[in-house]
Amino acid sequence: MDRKLNLNRAETFSFVNPWIRYFLFFFSFLFWVFSLLIVAIGVYAKVQKATDTVRDTFLIDPAVILIVVGVVMFFITFCGCIGALRENIRLLKTFSFSLTLVFLTQLAIAILGFFYSDQTRDALGKFVKKAIVHYRDDLDLQNLMDYIQKEFKCCGWNNYTDWSWNLYFNCTHENPSSERCAVPYSCCTPVPGEAVINTMCGFGAQTQNYLEANKSIYPVGCADRAVMWIESHLLLVGALALGLALPQIAGIVLSQILISQIQDEITSVL
Ligand SMILES: *[C@@H]1O[C@H](CO)[C@@H](O)[C@H](O)[C@H]1NC(C)=O
Ligand SMILES: *[C@@H]1O[C@H](CO)[C@@H](O)[C@H](O)[C@H]1NC(C)=O
Repeated sequence: MDRKLNLNRAETFSFVNPWIRYFLFFFSFLFWVFSLLIVAIGVYAKVQKATDTVRDTFLIDPAVILIVVGVVMFFITFCGCIGALRENIRLLKTFSFSLTLVFLTQLAIAILGFFYSDQTRDALGKFVKKAIVHYRDDLDLQNLMDYIQKEFKCCGWNNYTDWSWNLYFNCTHENPSSERCAVPYSCCTPVPGEAVINTMCGFGAQTQNYLEANKSIYPVGCADRAVMWIESHLLLVGALALGLALPQIAGIVLSQILISQIQDEITSVL
């Protein structure tokens, strides 16, 4: 008699909030699909790529990073998705724990990057130096460097003379290259009203001093520009960080709530 009453109560009243449950399910599902997309892009990039110059430049192949991030995200969001749908405590706990781990790792990287900003700058400088050295060996690296220089209106890492790191642009007298002492076209400041684009505008730029170079190319290095960009876009940087952190925090909190609600449900039925 008593047991029947209890069961009846359990049928009509649930400790589990359906809004929290389906919210968690829906967003886990969304990011689950997104993770599949990331893996697909990574695999595509890996298959497409014939040369390994990019991998040698960045120590690790960016395509592999995409695949790893995608696979980790796939398993975490899968746990959240199925855990919420099936009200499975073990899956939800796995989800909550992994997400906390990922969140803390990102937080640690951000804090270390902030407090060791000089070392971060040096490490980034090493990557850019390699990208400059291999500029002509790989179209992706070339596009990346061109994009950075055009977007940030900068040239080289410290300044435009960094292009001597590259065999073709090296400014020593013995260099037989026709582009000796030049900088790539992406360093050039656009000339307003110019009908024909002068792709030779960077030629001989490395022999010029700052004021001379300033007339045709961006004289400031990309390292200083990046710092300036961050300082003038602090709000955007903060918003991006929040956009990354909020879904993770929400996932951790909601899954914890759901876990305790399911546990309440179980003890009430017993
Ligand atoms: C460019 O940077 C290098 C290394 O930091 C420095 O030695 C050189 O004087 C700089 N050249 C100009 C023109 O600013
Ligand atoms: C330019 O090439 C010369 C000769 O190969 C080399 O000694 C020099 O270090 C190069 N310059 C830079 C900045 O790497």
